[in-house]
Amino acid sequence: MKILVTGSAGFIGFSFCKYLLENKKIKIIGVDNLNNYYDPKLKKERLQILKKYNSFKFYKVDICSRKKIKNLFKTNKFDFVFHFAAQAGVRYSINHPKEYIDTNVLGFFNIIENCSNYNVKRLFYASSSSIYGENKNFPLDEKEIVKPKNIYALSKKINEDISLIFNKYYKLKSTGLRFFTVYGEWGRPDMMLLKFIESFYQKKTFYLYNFGKHSRDFTYIGDVVKILYLLLNKHRSLGTNDIFNICSNKSIDLDKIIFFFKKNNIIPKIKKISIQKADIIKTHGDNSKLCKTINYKKFSDWKISLLKLIKWYRVFYKFK
Ligand SMILES: NC(=O)c1ccc[n+]([C@@H]2O[C@H](COP(=O)([O-])OP(=O)(O)OC[C@H]3O[C@@H](n4cnc5c(N)ncnc54)[C@H](O)[C@@H]3O)[C@@H](O)[C@H]2O)c1
Repeated sequence: MKILVTGSAGFIGFSFCKYLLENKKIKIIGVDNLNNYYDPKLKKERLQILKKYNSFKFYKVDICSRKKIKNLFKTNKFDFVFHFAAQAGVRYSINHPKEYIDTNVLGFFNIIENCSNYNVKRLFYASSSSIYGENKNFPLDEKEIVKPKNIYALSKKINEDISLIFNKYYKLKSTGLRFFTVYGEWGRPDMMLLKFIESFYQKKTFYLYNFGKHSRDFTYIGDVVKILYLLLNKHRSLGTNDIFNICSNKSIDLDKIIFFFKKNNIIPKIKKISIQKADIIKTHGDNSKLCKTINYKKFSDWKISLLKLIKWYRVFYKFK
């Protein structure tokens, strides 16, 4: 089996490739443009790990390049595509809307069009919990109304809509993955948990938005990679155009997380500030459709996973 993983130097793409390479016999082609939205050194370090495997090949490609993406599909017969490359980040979208249209809409189109033209068996693509906006009908299931509140969320909704059309007219099978705050080792430095740990170790001030009154359905990367593999295994029985919440179904108040960090001596200087206008106050997804489909029952304990994250940070950045 041969798969394409876009965004393979990013957090989720890398973690999924690493899991497959360590545990399964699958040929992987990874692509990423290694942009500097956050430190590209981290992306390169991730890639060094993947490049140790003979069954992994990497190309530095921008998914916005129609010619290069077409060529990639033409020269490789992909069975499946996992599309994770995107301009991520809700807050960044306020001042950089164009990046989201370029990569998340036009880049996505290049991927889906080639999946269809080159008969990929199924496209799995990253959507986001943020498309629910401020919908408060918790826990949110996949049938709930989506109300994108920023251009990032809108770009993900457009992906879902395009995939519906590609299924209807061109019979391309696809599965949208609405990720809820994925965290863990090798995670994204622009997200809250790593920013908090980094503020402590680098002696910087941590800015706590909305005075800490946020809750998130935190989903551990160790669960996410297993879920993605189980979905791949189940590809024949999935709907032709399906959406899944990828979440732990547990919304945790940030106050509680900060209390746990403090108990473990991670105590940066904190400055409480008001809400950032792109932010969602609470996320909490219903994962019953997912758990039933792949028979996944036991999600990791967030406290144990957070300790693993702290340990990874200390080792990676060489703090004793
Ligand atoms: N991490 C989360 O909690 C979360 C939550 C919801 C949705 N998502 C979605 O999941 C996917 C993966 O997220 P992540 O956390 O791994 O983010 P990430 O930023 O770590 O990974 C995305 C990767 O895509 C690459 N990329 C960006 N633009 C590109 C382009 N034009 N061409 C080629 N590569 C490009 C980046 O260099 C990066 O390595 C994204 O689509 C994101 O929107 C993530």
